[in-house]
Amino acid sequence: MNSTSCHVCLEGLERVGSLAHERCAHAVVGAARLPEIDVDLAHLHTVGLAMVGRASLSGVQRKISLNLTAARSTLRTEVGAGRFILKPQAQAFPNLPENEHVTMRMAAACGLEVAPSALVPLRDGSPAFLTRRFDRADDGRKRRQEDFCQLAEKPPKEKYDGSAELCFRLVRRYAAEPGVAALRLFRQLLFCWWTGNGDAHLKNLSLLADDEGRHALSPAYDLLSTRLVIEDDPLALPVGGKRAGLTRRSWVELGASARLPNKVVEREIDALRRNLPACESLIERSFLPDAMKVAYRELLRERVLG
Ligand SMILES: Nc1ncnc2c1ncn2[C@@H]1O[C@H](COP(=O)(O)OP(=O)(O)OP(=O)(O)O)[C@@H](O)[C@H]1O
Ligand SMILES: [Mg+2]
Ligand SMILES: [Zn+2]
Repeated sequence: MNSTSCHVCLEGLERVGSLAHERCAHAVVGAARLPEIDVDLAHLHTVGLAMVGRASLSGVQRKISLNLTAARSTLRTEVGAGRFILKPQAQAFPNLPENEHVTMRMAAACGLEVAPSALVPLRDGSPAFLTRRFDRADDGRKRRQEDFCQLAEKPPKEKYDGSAELCFRLVRRYAAEPGVAALRLFRQLLFCWWTGNGDAHLKNLSLLADDEGRHALSPAYDLLSTRLVIEDDPLALPVGGKRAGLTRRSWVELGASARLPNKVVEREIDALRRNLPACESLIERSFLPDAMKVAYRELLRERVLG
């Protein structure tokens, strides 16, 4: 791994030997240092969740739920009840944890609200993606979360059976502040297309309830560039009926159908160009192998909309 970048924010580390800035570790795990994970990849593959037999990325990146020990230095696997989700390397596709880690940082740089996350080494040294659950309050209470597959009253296996337009209808219907939620959704869908994410399906979008039961779009999760591992991977949810070959016009029309003001939509699309340098430098500082860094930068440049 690149030893000079923080395993949370990807900025430079001044202290040799540590994985992350103290403040960054705090933001993710509530302690000054990132934890050691007390398992190795081989073991995770036996305790990980069952694989869903699809030809896409879906479900191949086995995930496991964990809790911190009292000293907060070690994460122990505890299927079901954990405050954290750990996603180790997948056997079928290379570098997914590094890919998800940098993509989540890029999303934050582009103004998306994202789940707190870090890249942590397992006992065997292999990196895993760690995220803190946003559907657990500090006292451990569960906050109500409904994904868009549930909101659309579809069974989980129909998570690819939807569209961007359907997502906006769901948000208009169920979010407490529909205009705010629609703008956040637009930004997230545009970001997914920009970064070549072909796995942004209905279960990768959720509404989260606050204590008063008011629903808002949840922080973004499961963001990664499937294009880096699957050639020409199309969008999971079509925009204007299209899963590929989207243009500026496709997005302007989507914004209009979502009843977002045209000025706002144009500003969101123009922001891709403005965000490009920050995203490129995050990619450069990331833990992806060099060939993937090059491919990721090329994809972003190719898709900036004129
Ligand atoms: N930080 C988080 N806080 C709360 N819930 C989360 C968080 N990250 C993921 N989840 C929930 O866990 C589920 C699985 O996580 P995630 O989507 O990252 O895994 P995955 O294996 O990549 O899924 P997929 O089947 O989409 O490929 C999500 O659908 C979401 O409901
Ligand atoms: Mg998912
Ligand atoms: Zn940092």
